[in-house]
Formats: sequence, structure tokens, C-alpha cells
Amino acid sequence: MQRTLLEEKKKRNIPVICVFVAIACLLVLMGFLDTFVLKRPEAGPPNPPAASVPLKAPELPTGAEVPQALNMGMPGAPISVTDLQATHSTAPEKHFTLTAEAASLALDHGAPVQAWTFNGSAPGPTLRVRQGDMVVVTLINHLSFGVTIHWHGVSVPNADDGVAGVTQNAVKPGQSYTYRFLAKDAGTYWYHSHQFSYTETTGGLYGMLIVDPASPQVHDDVDSSVTLHDWNGANNQTLLAINTTTGTVKTNARAGQWVRLRVLNSSSDQHTVTLLGAPFMVAALDGHDVNAPQWLNQTPLPIGAAQRYDLRFQMPRTGAVTLVTSANNRQYQSAPAVVLGQGTVPGKLPAVSTHWFNLDTYGQPAPDPITTKSHFDVNYGITLNNHMGDSLGRMGMVYTLNGKVFPQTGMIMLKEGQLVKMHLDNQSDLIHPIHLHGHVFTVLTHNGHALTGSPIHLDTINIQPHDSYDIAFLANNPGIWMLHCHNLLHANWGMDMMVMYDISTPYSIGRATGNFPD
Ligand code: C2O
Ligand code: CU
Repeated sequence: MQRTLLEEKKKRNIPVICVFVAIACLLVLMGFLDTFVLKRPEAGPPNPPAASVPLKAPELPTGAEVPQALNMGMPGAPISVTDLQATHSTAPEKHFTLTAEAASLALDHGAPVQAWTFNGSAPGPTLRVRQGDMVVVTLINHLSFGVTIHWHGVSVPNADDGVAGVTQNAVKPGQSYTYRFLAKDAGTYWYHSHQFSYTETTGGLYGMLIVDPASPQVHDDVDSSVTLHDWNGANNQTLLAINTTTGTVKTNARAGQWVRLRVLNSSSDQHTVTLLGAPFMVAALDGHDVNAPQWLNQTPLPIGAAQRYDLRFQMPRTGAVTLVTSANNRQYQSAPAVVLGQGTVPGKLPAVSTHWFNLDTYGQPAPDPITTKSHFDVNYGITLNNHMGDSLGRMGMVYTLNGKVFPQTGMIMLKEGQLVKMHLDNQSDLIHPIHLHGHVFTVLTHNGHALTGSPIHLDTINIQPHDSYDIAFLANNPGIWMLHCHNLLHANWGMDMMVMYDISTPYSIGRATGNFPD
């Protein structure tokens, strides 16, 4: 009796269930249309829902420790950051527009990746100018949060350095901003956002800037550039891409041609690359020529975050030349890769040699304005470390300069004309690629030993665990400049400080302004 009554009830419920199911289906369909079709007319064809990891817009931590308005300048200084602009000149102007906008990147991988981009791609367009050009770049922000552009490695006037809260306010949604600087030095540089640089650069707001020499010392038949970038793929796994693919980048080159291949690591972790198929040399590091570089054969190159290697080689009579990467520093992998000339990635890849590229001994000595024997006006020691702690009210692993996290790291004060030496001492088990804005430095010593090869000029020194370097530079570019780790997660969790001259700034970092450079 009980049972039949129940069955009877169930039967009567069937039409009700059907109505519910129909309504539910309709709601799901509407939700789908809303999310993936109606709301994103500019994002191209809709993606399957499971495929994309949505990006979370960057925001300031909320703790009471987050400053309201932190002014990094010298109050009352006679010169302001805003005075430090490119002087008017007759230099030819090269104009570019970079629009910050969202895009879905295919990367030739199963699942597209959601990104923030300049002009719809990541890397953004490669800006190519000639040494001596005035570079004029208009940034238009179509994203829902602030963006800036920092010209990594270029000695720009301070007002054009693109550091939110220090040299400008972050460019707000719908607004634009114009950068103007003289391309004084030839070489391979890059650009990226310096508002929430960790989230925004990792998310895709970066590209390359190449300055061709006014009078080239060597001739390249083929000049090609590639960017290594770690993307956050589905299920949080890291996807390494070269340019816009996790597969193979193809570049035309004919037998006998000289090739310059510029390689940028725009991710936060070090990557290992080498060239197969031809002997090669490292012609430049961070855009600065190496003197008399030797030939290398399958030599593994450790490319630190933000660093650039210019490789030069001659195409062999037959076959392709391939740039390969290694994820474990033991074996090379077949993808991502760059194939130059006719062919494919070799089926059998060699093991990673134990003879790594070493800038301590590479190239030949040459006279240099700064050597270990120079007289240094000032000497600073900076230790690099990490510990569990507090950064802006967030608890977690913090990364320190002299034991402190930003903004407690303070500043280094410089006077124009000083020759400055810095001792960078990595006391941690992690790699720290340390970058100085606005200046190029000479590497003097590594673990206490003077370099014996070519003079080495860099803007980012990739410091292995428990290694130390002496670097030195001429204080020749007044302003307020950041010194920070280019593992941008480390910068986001404390590893930044200011290197500054007697300069004031009208801008501030913090909650009141929304500016947060890292
Ligand atoms: Cu490439 Cu402070 O940055
Ligand atoms: Cu670091």
C-alpha cells in the first residue's frame, strides 16, 4: 500500500520534474550565452567554458599595513621627476600606439589562455627603431584596471620610466599616456607594465623593443626575435610558450646566411636554452655587445628572468638550426622550439651538457670605463634572502633586501657623477635576477673573483643561490629608480628598493592613488 502510493506520487511528479529540468536547461543556456557569447563581442569566437582560466584583475592587498600614500621622493628637492623629460631635438620620431586589451590566446595548445595584451597579442608588437630615433609611444588603456609601460634596460629620462606611483600615475581605464625617449643605445630591450607588474606582466602585458645600431659592426642577413613566457594553463600547470606557441616557431633562413636570434625571457623563472645544428656565439647580453665572443657548441645558456641573449650563427649548408629548451636541465625537450631554415626539431635530442655558458670567462678583455681598479665614490652591500613573514599585511614567504621588505627597504642616495659599486650577496636557496632601472652596470666580480673575459654590461644580473657579484655603474641619470628582483613574485612580496638622486615626485604609491608598481 505504502509503496504504490509512493509510486503514484512519483508518477504525478514527472511533469513537474520535466518543467524544472526545462527551466534549468534554459537558465544554463542563458548563462552560457551571457558569459561566452553576448558579453564579449571583441574577444573573437567563444571558448569552451572549461578551456580558459579567467584572469583575476590585480588589486591592492587590504591590510592596514598598506600605505595610504607613500611618496618616494625627497621632499622639497629642487628638481621633480616631471622635469626629467626628453629634451627637444631634431631626432627623427618613431610613433607607436600600444592598446592594453584583453584577448584569448590559442598558443597552439589544447586550451586557450586568457591574457591581457598590447594590441591583442602577447608578446605585444615588437617595436623596432634606429639608434638616435626619438621613440614616441602612446599607451591606450582598454582594460578595467591601471596600466603603465616600463622600458626595461633603456636609459630613459626618469619621467618616462613607467613606474606607477613613482614616475607617473597608473593610466586608468579609458585613458591614455605618451612616452617619449631617445633611443641612445642599440640593442635588444623590452617593455612591460610596471603597475602591479607581477600580475600584469605575467598576464601578458609585455613585448620587445629593438634598437638597430646607427653604424652596425656586423652584418646579419636574418634578424629574428623570440620571447619565452610562462603561462598559467588549465589546472594551474605552467605552459612555456615561445612567442605565441607552445609548439614550433618557424623562421626562414637560407644556407650560408648570418642569423641574429634575440631571445628574451619574459617570465619570472630562469630558462635553459641552446642551439642545435650550428656553432653559435653570444653576441650580446641585455643588448650590450660582448667583445670577441668565442664559438659555442650546444652550450646550455641559463637565461634569467628579464634577460636577453643575442645569438649569432651562420646557417649550415644543409639542415635547420633549432633553438630548444630544457625544463629539468638534464634533457632538451622537443617543444616549444624555434626552427630556422628547412627542417623540423631533431627527433633525438642531446642531453644538457654540464659545460654551461659562463659570463665570468666569455669573450676577450677590452678597455672599459669601469674596472675593478676604478676609484669608487660609494660602496653599498645588499643581501638577498627570504623568510616566512609579513608583506603589506599578507602572511607568507617574503623576499628581502638587507633583511627587510619594501617599503621598509629604504633607499640608496646617489649624487650625479658618482661611480657606484654594489655588492649583491644572495644568501638564499633561490635564484634572484636583480634589475636596476635607468642605468647599465658593469659586472666586476663573481664570488670574489674578477671576470676574465669580455667586459660585461647588464641591466639584470641573474644571481644563483649563495652567489655574490660586485657590480658598478656611473650615476649619470638623475631620478628615482627601482632596484628589484625580476622574479616578479619576489618583487610583489618585498624585494624592491629605490636608488635615487635628490629628486622629488608628485606621485605616491598606495591606497589613495591606487598606484602599486609591483
Ligand atoms: Cu623589467 Cu622594474 O622592471
Ligand atoms: Cu628574487
